[in-house]
This record gives sequence, structure tokens and C-alpha cells, in this order.
Amino acid sequence: MRLVILDSSDRVGEWAAKYVLKRIRDFNPGPDKYFVLGLPTGSTPLGMYRKLVEYHKNGKVSFKYVKTFNMDEYANLPRDHPESYHYFMWHNFFKHIDIEPENAHILDGNAPDLKLECENYEKKIKEAGGVELFIGGIGPDGHIAFNEPGSSLVSRTRVKTLAQDTLEANARFFENDMSKVPKEALTVGVGTVMDAREVMILITGAHKSFALYKAIEEGVNHMWTVSAFQQHPKTLMLCDEDATLELRVKTVKYFKGLMELHSKLIADTP
Ligand code: PGA
Repeated sequence: MRLVILDSSDRVGEWAAKYVLKRIRDFNPGPDKYFVLGLPTGSTPLGMYRKLVEYHKNGKVSFKYVKTFNMDEYANLPRDHPESYHYFMWHNFFKHIDIEPENAHILDGNAPDLKLECENYEKKIKEAGGVELFIGGIGPDGHIAFNEPGSSLVSRTRVKTLAQDTLEANARFFENDMSKVPKEALTVGVGTVMDAREVMILITGAHKSFALYKAIEEGVNHMWTVSAFQQHPKTLMLCDEDATLELRVKTVKYFKGLMELHSKLIADTP
């Protein structure tokens, strides 16, 4: 696992965008060879999306031959609700780039049969050739996508009941009215993300520092589902200084010592 420690959350967004740009360019996608990208929502990746839109507008990257699969979506929330992940992705990313709408996949939380929707999603990922780079954020409780504490580390895409902590954290987006907060979501499983050829996880802010400590310094544990990625052959974690607050000084120094090597991962990008 690589851990790239950057000065601020803005730098995390920029670094992540540069990495995506480089991976797509190096892959050299075309009509017979699509680049398959897994994508998150939330406040953490916003800076990355903004930068990718900028690079696209400056002609530095095209998404014409990119297929995307989002991590999750609320169940039974209208698609045009401002808190739906469909709405988030369209307004923050897809409408600004040249992706073909049929190549941007998001779980349908209003499908008549949610279980079938989840099974079909797994099939669609397989048919696309699997995910080349899955990007994720984490919650302060170490969840990845909606894989709440205690989720199976080999889980697949499924309907999940959201943890009380998550409902409370989300209430601010629903007029602080708990009755309006969706109680269920559709989410890729930890196993689904583990199948990706590479995983990049963005972690910013002091409120995520305990989760980062659990992810990096402690063992694999289903109560901190992000820790599963210790066993992925290619995991790249990007964090800001604030998120390192619970790490040992020795750990921080170790990873900072590798910074020159890490910088090569985004060589020749804007
Ligand atoms: P955030 O959410 O980026 O808004 O902090 C991440 C998550 O809970 O997965």
C-alpha cells in the first residue's frame, strides 16, 4: 500500500485528478478498449472532480472512451432529488465532460427489484472488463461506499440498511429531519472494490484521522471496512496533514520519505 501525504485537502484533490489523468492517458483508451473507472460521491472528491473538469476543458483529457461505475446510491430517493447521487454526479462531473451518458453507470435506487438491480450491476462491471481504477472516500467510522462497520469484507453489490451514525451524519442534508433521511442504500461490496485492478482512497480532515490510523496501522477488521485494502495488491491512499493526526510520527516520516517516488506517479501532468 502507498500512502501519499499532502499539505491540504485542495492538494489531495489536485493530486488525485492528476493521477486519474495520467492513468487514462497511459491506458490510451479507444473504441475497442475502454478505461473503466469506479467513482465516489461526497465532499472529499469534489476538488478532484473540479480539476478533472478543468483538465477536460483545457483539452488535456477526454472521457469519450471511459466507462464509469459509481459506488452507491440511496434507495427510494427520486433521481432528481438534490441529495441523490445521480444528481451529484451529473452536476459536479458528468455534464461538464464528454462521457457518453450510457457509459456512466449509477445504481438505480428506484428499480422495481433492488436485489436484481444489484446483481445486474455486478454483471455490467464484469461485462465492461472489470474496474481499472476504483476511487473511494471513507467515513469517520472507516466505511468505504456504504459498507458500514461489520460488513463482510467479501461482500458484493447489495441493499444495505444504513447505520445510525450515517443517518445522523446525513440528516444535515435533509433539513435535519430524520424522517426524511433515506434508511437504505444500494452499494458495491468491499469484494466488488477489491476486484478492481487498482484502488485509490481519498481521506481528508482530522475527523477521519482515527479511521486512517485503523486503515494503516492496525490489522484487517470488518469494523473498519477500509482496512480490507491492506490486502489489495495495488492500493493508493491520498490524505492531507490533518488526517494523519492519529498516526505515529514514525509512520508519517516513513511515507513522507517515499514522496519523491510517489511524485513520479504523476510525472508529466499539468
Ligand atoms: P465525505 O463522505 O467525503 O462527504 O466525508 C465520505 C463517506 O462517508 O464515504
